[in-house]
Amino acid sequence: MRFSSALALVAGAATAAAQVALPSSIFGLPFGAQCQGAVLQTLTNGSFAQCFPTADLLPLLTTNGSIIPILDKFMTDLCYKSPCSNATLMAAAQAITTGCAADLQTAKLPNTTVAAAFGIYPVLREVLCLKTSSPYTAQSYGGILGPAPIPISAAYNQTNGTFCVSSVLTQYSAYLGANLTIPYIVGAATGANSTAAFLVKQTNPNALCNECIFGAVGVIEAAAPIVGRIPISSVLAYVNMTYPGDKSATLNTILNSTCAYKPLAVNTTVLPQNVTVSIVNSTFTPRLRPATSA
Ligand SMILES: *[C@@H]1O[C@H](CO)[C@@H](O)[C@H](O)[C@H]1NC(C)=O
Ligand SMILES: *[C@@H]1O[C@H](CO)[C@@H](O)[C@H](O)[C@H]1NC(C)=O
Ligand SMILES: *[C@@H]1O[C@H](CO)[C@@H](O)[C@H](O)[C@H]1NC(C)=O
Ligand SMILES: *[C@@H]1O[C@H](CO)[C@@H](O)[C@H](O)[C@H]1NC(C)=O
Ligand SMILES: *[C@@H]1O[C@H](CO)[C@@H](O)[C@H](O)[C@H]1NC(C)=O
Ligand SMILES: *[C@@H]1O[C@H](CO)[C@@H](O)[C@H](O)[C@H]1NC(C)=O
Ligand SMILES: *[C@@H]1O[C@H](CO)[C@@H](O)[C@H](O)[C@H]1NC(C)=O
Ligand SMILES: *[C@@H]1O[C@H](CO)[C@@H](O)[C@H](O)[C@H]1NC(C)=O
Ligand SMILES: *[C@@H]1O[C@H](CO)[C@@H](O)[C@H](O)[C@H]1NC(C)=O
Ligand SMILES: *[C@@H]1O[C@H](CO)[C@@H](O)[C@H](O)[C@H]1NC(C)=O
Ligand SMILES: *[C@@H]1O[C@H](CO)[C@@H](O)[C@H](O)[C@H]1NC(C)=O
Ligand SMILES: *[C@@H]1O[C@H](CO)[C@@H](O)[C@H](O)[C@H]1NC(C)=O
Repeated sequence: MRFSSALALVAGAATAAAQVALPSSIFGLPFGAQCQGAVLQTLTNGSFAQCFPTADLLPLLTTNGSIIPILDKFMTDLCYKSPCSNATLMAAAQAITTGCAADLQTAKLPNTTVAAAFGIYPVLREVLCLKTSSPYTAQSYGGILGPAPIPISAAYNQTNGTFCVSSVLTQYSAYLGANLTIPYIVGAATGANSTAAFLVKQTNPNALCNECIFGAVGVIEAAAPIVGRIPISSVLAYVNMTYPGDKSATLNTILNSTCAYKPLAVNTTVLPQNVTVSIVNSTFTPRLRPATSA
């Protein structure tokens, strides 16, 4: 719910800025004119728009190029400028809750929904600001994935490392042998590009065994330990999928056992080797410590 709310917000802002009519329903939820106005106003004007640089994401709407350079620029602005204050987040949530009161009621969502979505800001910023000192290259993993269509370069922010999001997406783009453009992602997700959909399904679980992914999981679980303890089978059941393995397997047991060969294990106090949080004035607590170099 929180994730889809966030997506709806981003999609909403982006669409309007491109002068296209907003949809009247998102994921089956009502999205009336007053609510749309409140969301747009919050995302494009005012103090929240300053500290959460939505404007950087607008090119996603119009480009047929890779999303990675756009996200890298977004994270540079998100991580190295002043964070949103609690007051800014509360005011933004209040404005949307008020503007969307009727729609929230129709959807039978409590008034706290919007505040909860804005409440993930500190952890979201912390995760997006993870950097790695050993980003993906054509030589990573013994060279099995080969060069990415767009390699990591000085075009991306390289101050104190490469953003983990950029490195992990570059690696996946090397695996797929394609640039991660919006049309490509849509084709892979809907199955319209059956080759891409097949490759996604065939992704080796070892792809999870990446320091950046363990860093992100550690940060998320430091804030919400429950995330690591929910049986995966019950999460998949929500989307009518079955988990082929052990019914009691959780995110933590799967990650620990899949990646024991590295070795990597979920850790909510210390970041993996070569991973740091590169950020100005984090509002996330508790901070994870960087690993002391071995
Ligand atoms: C932005 O907000 C200010 C003050 O709240 C308002 O005067 C202005 O009209 C708004 N601009 C846009 C483009 O909505
Ligand atoms: C970070 O916090 C310090 C101390 O509160 C403040 O002086 C500085 O301006 C802040 N930096 C940014 C980029 O907001
Ligand atoms: C943010 O402000 C709200 C309302 O004033 C308060 O309930 C909440 O505890 C604050 N959160 C943090 C992290 O300070
Ligand atoms: C939800 O918020 C709206 C607008 O702020 C208010 O009219 C309504 O009474 C609130 N509902 C509840 C259950 O608090
Ligand atoms: C990376 O971020 C640093 C710190 O804000 C900035 O000085 C530098 O210009 C950025 N580089 C790029 C390529 O965006
Ligand atoms: C990926 O994008 C880059 C830069 O836009 C382009 O030079 C390259 O040919 C593209 N690669 C593929 C496989 O589409
Ligand atoms: C479909 O996916 C494959 C595999 O990634 C890619 O090579 C191909 O270019 C894609 N086709 C289209 C039309 O995007
Ligand atoms: C899952 O299956 C049930 C029963 O077959 C159905 O009612 C429900 O809509 C399905 N949910 C999804 C997300 O497909
Ligand atoms: C994962 O591994 C870490 C480190 O060995 C350990 O502390 C933790 O209990 C393990 N978690 C699970 C669910 O196996
Ligand atoms: C987390 O990593 C640190 C440093 O490697 C280690 O001392 C600690 O035991 C780890 N914690 C868990 C729960 O595995
Ligand atoms: C960390 O970086 C060093 C130096 O680049 C490299 O030798 C080492 O293999 C990296 N460790 C991991 C776990 O990626
Ligand atoms: C880069 O790392 C150095 C040393 O840890 C630190 O002083 C500096 O503030 C960092 N720069 C950024 C933009 O995070």
